[in-house]
Amino acid sequence: MIPFSPPTLTEDDINAVVEVLRSGWITSGPVGRRFEERIAEVSGTTGAVALSSATAALELALRAAGTGPGDEVVVPAYTYTASASVIDHVGAKIVMVDSEPGSPFPSVERIAAAVTGRTRAVITVDLAGIPFDSRPLATLLAGRGRIDAGLGAALGRPVIISDSAHSLGARLDSYPTGSLADLTAFSFHAVKNLTTAEGGALTWRSDLPTDQEALERWVRTYSLHGQTKDALAKSRGASWEYDVIAPAYKCNLPDTLAALGLSQLDRYARTLERRRELLAQYAEGLAGTGVTLLDHGGDGVVSAAHLAIATLPVADVAERNRVIQDLYEAGVSANVHYKPLPLLTAYRDLGFDIADFPGAHAFYSTELTLPLHLALSDADVAQVCTALATALRRSATRGTVSAA
Ligand SMILES: Cc1ncc(COP(=O)(O)O)c(C=O)c1O
Repeated sequence: MIPFSPPTLTEDDINAVVEVLRSGWITSGPVGRRFEERIAEVSGTTGAVALSSATAALELALRAAGTGPGDEVVVPAYTYTASASVIDHVGAKIVMVDSEPGSPFPSVERIAAAVTGRTRAVITVDLAGIPFDSRPLATLLAGRGRIDAGLGAALGRPVIISDSAHSLGARLDSYPTGSLADLTAFSFHAVKNLTTAEGGALTWRSDLPTDQEALERWVRTYSLHGQTKDALAKSRGASWEYDVIAPAYKCNLPDTLAALGLSQLDRYARTLERRRELLAQYAEGLAGTGVTLLDHGGDGVVSAAHLAIATLPVADVAERNRVIQDLYEAGVSANVHYKPLPLLTAYRDLGFDIADFPGAHAFYSTELTLPLHLALSDADVAQVCTALATALRRSATRGTVSAA
């Protein structure tokens, strides 16, 4: 079976974790700080805080933007739940926007049209590793939204937060993700390009008009119960004394996991190169099959090549699902990214109706995600392409039969 997205772990990765386990300090400490410095380097930012997940990073980003009850936050309907659930967590109203026809992405104009006088922040998503260009969005949002205080007031517009769970190391016009939006959340979950098993990071662009050291301190404090000292600082000398300034979260990243990420960063440039190469092989291998691969190579875009998103020449969801079953029987594990949020119970219960999101619904109905990971050989890619072409031929026959 060709798996969908297993992690690639080397002996160096394992040794890096073991070294921390033997070191006498296993939770957040010096290794995590080195990991943060390297993440800041990769994303062209002045700093980063390592956290337990991208979800935690997104939620802290919303709180750093001062988002709370009475505020609205705009988010695409075509994304993973974590992009939107965090808006609910902070007590704000989720405002979803549809995708453009034939695309999983909303346009900046569509996002801007959803902004009201209550909009505190906008969350954009770098789906599949393709960086979303928030720069024209920033221009469109100038002077709009709820910008009475905090970061929004300093920016003169709602705060733009990038869900960059898929896009560490991507670039747009030579700006790395992390440098485009105001605040950026990365994920290091087990299926991501770079993994700490579970983990994430929050970064802020280097010219963000705020006291960035204060922002970093705030994020650290809010990721550690609102406690003014972390465990390492408390363990030094007789400096046990601390305060808790807010009843906050516990979502720091321990050194045991940071070590895994730090080790993988050493080969991350090669990882990205190979992932891009695999995408190119899919494009070549699927030529003439009627499959359209999501474009990772727009103007100035260098994608992180996280997902191989394909649009199939099939009639509907049932037929797409049959193709996934056929692929499975041919030894290929495929997936779907994503079921639009209004199709999920949680968001239906919040009042969202998929009928209001025809673009997202249509893209989802014929979407299939192909395996993309470093254990794939060139021969594996060829096998996936052959299996998909065969499944699509069978699908076309079924279409003819059922139409007759
Ligand atoms: C688009 C997107 N956003 C956010 C997340 C959440 O990441 P994490 O699991 O690190 O919280 C994911 C995870 O799959 C994701 O795909």
